Amino acid sequence: MAKRTPPRNASLPYEIDAAGNGPLGMPPADFLRDYWQKRPLLIRNAFPDFESPLTPEDLAGLACEDTALSRIARYDRAADAWSIRSGPFAEEEFPGMPHQDWTLLVQDVDKWDPDVRALLDAFDFMPRWRMDDIMISFAAPGGSVGAHIDQYDVFLLQGQGHRRWLIDTAPNPDETYLEDVPLRLLKHFRPNQDWVLAPGDMLYVPPGVPHHGIAEDACLTISVGLRAPSSAELLGDFVDTLTCDADESVRYSDPDLAPPEDLCEIDATAMARAVEALNKLRMNDPERLGDWFGRFISLYRSAGVPLDPDPPRSRIEIEFDLQQGAVLARHPWTRAAWRRSTEHKRIGKLYIAGQIHALPLADASLLAAAQALDADAYASLSPDGQALVIALLGEGHYHLESDSFDEDDDDRD
Ligand code: SIN
Ligand code: CO
Repeated sequence: MAKRTPPRNASLPYEIDAAGNGPLGMPPADFLRDYWQKRPLLIRNAFPDFESPLTPEDLAGLACEDTALSRIARYDRAADAWSIRSGPFAEEEFPGMPHQDWTLLVQDVDKWDPDVRALLDAFDFMPRWRMDDIMISFAAPGGSVGAHIDQYDVFLLQGQGHRRWLIDTAPNPDETYLEDVPLRLLKHFRPNQDWVLAPGDMLYVPPGVPHHGIAEDACLTISVGLRAPSSAELLGDFVDTLTCDADESVRYSDPDLAPPEDLCEIDATAMARAVEALNKLRMNDPERLGDWFGRFISLYRSAGVPLDPDPPRSRIEIEFDLQQGAVLARHPWTRAAWRRSTEHKRIGKLYIAGQIHALPLADASLLAAAQALDADAYASLSPDGQALVIALLGEGHYHLESDSFDEDDDDRD
C-alpha cells in the first residue's frame, strides 16, 4: 500500500487526556493537521463518564437479525487456530459460548440504532460522506481479532470493560500476512505502544498502522470507521460510467496514416493515436465529473437498501401529518451529499443513494444534512425540493414518523 505521510512533528505525544476539550482533546483543526492520516493518538476521557448506548445483549440480539452483518472470531489457544463465522446467529448460541477468546463483531450498528447513530455527531469535524459505519464488538476476556492493518481510519471508542491495545507506530511496517488463517493477520507484529483503554477512552488509528486489541475483561468496543475508495475502485466505476453510454463511432482513427516502415510494429505514432482514442472519452467537463463522483460516493459501500416504502399517501395527507408534528426521517441506509454546480451558481447538486438532483443551493445543502425534516424544514424547501422529498418518500428513502401512528416502529425496516 501507499506509504504513510511522515509525521509533521515527531515529538507530538501519542497519548493525551481530553480534559474536557471535546472528544479529540484539542481543536479539530489541530487534530487534522497533526494526527489525521499521520499518526495514532490515544485520547483518554474523550467521552467523560461514557455509558455505552448498547449492551452486549443488545448486540447479540442484533447479530441474530437476518440482514445484520455479524461475525464471530474465535481463537483456540490449545490448537493455535483461528476460526471465523458469519451471522445471522441463533439466540441459543450465546449462553453456550466459552468464557474467553472470542469476539462478536457487528457492522453498521449506526443504521440500526438511533442512539448509536447519535455518536456520529461527535465526529462532525469531517465530511459526513467520509463516514462509513459504526461497528461494535463484544469480546470475552482474551478475545481479539489478532494483529492487523486496516485500510481505513478508525476511531476505537471503549464502550464497556477494558481493552488492551498494542500499536506499532513505526513507519513502513512489515505487511507480511500469516498463511492459512481465515483473517488477514500480520506475521511479524512489533508493537511499541501498549495501552489499556477504559470506557470513554478513544484510540485513533490511521490506515496502515498495525494494531491488536485484546479484551482484558468482557468488553464492548465501538469503532467509528471512515471510508475511502481505492483508486482502483474509483477508476473502475469511472470507466463504467464513461463506457456505458459511449458512442461506438468514437474510436481509434488514423486519417493521416503513412506507409509503415515495419508492417508489424506498433510505432510511437500508433501509440499516440491509442492515447488520443482514450482521451476522446475522458470526462474533462467538471460538472459531469462532479456528478459521477457524487453518484459514486452516495452509493459506495451501501450495504443496505430501503425495502418497504410507506404505503402510498397523498401529498396533502403527508403535509397534514407534518403539520400535526410528524417528521420525515431519512432512511438510515440512504447516503446523501451535495456539491455546488460548476455551471449554475445558484444550483446545488444533491446526490442521494446514487440519484442526481439539481436544486436551489439551500435545498441541496439542507436535504444532504438533515436526517429528519419537520414541518418547518419541509416548508423552507422550494417547490422542487418538496416534490423531490415526496418522491423519495415513495421510494422508501424517507419514512413518515409520528407518535400517533408509528408507536411500535423500531427504526429497523
Ligand atoms: C475489534 O473491535 O475487536 C477490532 C476493531 C479493529 O481492530 O479495528
Ligand atoms: Co482494526
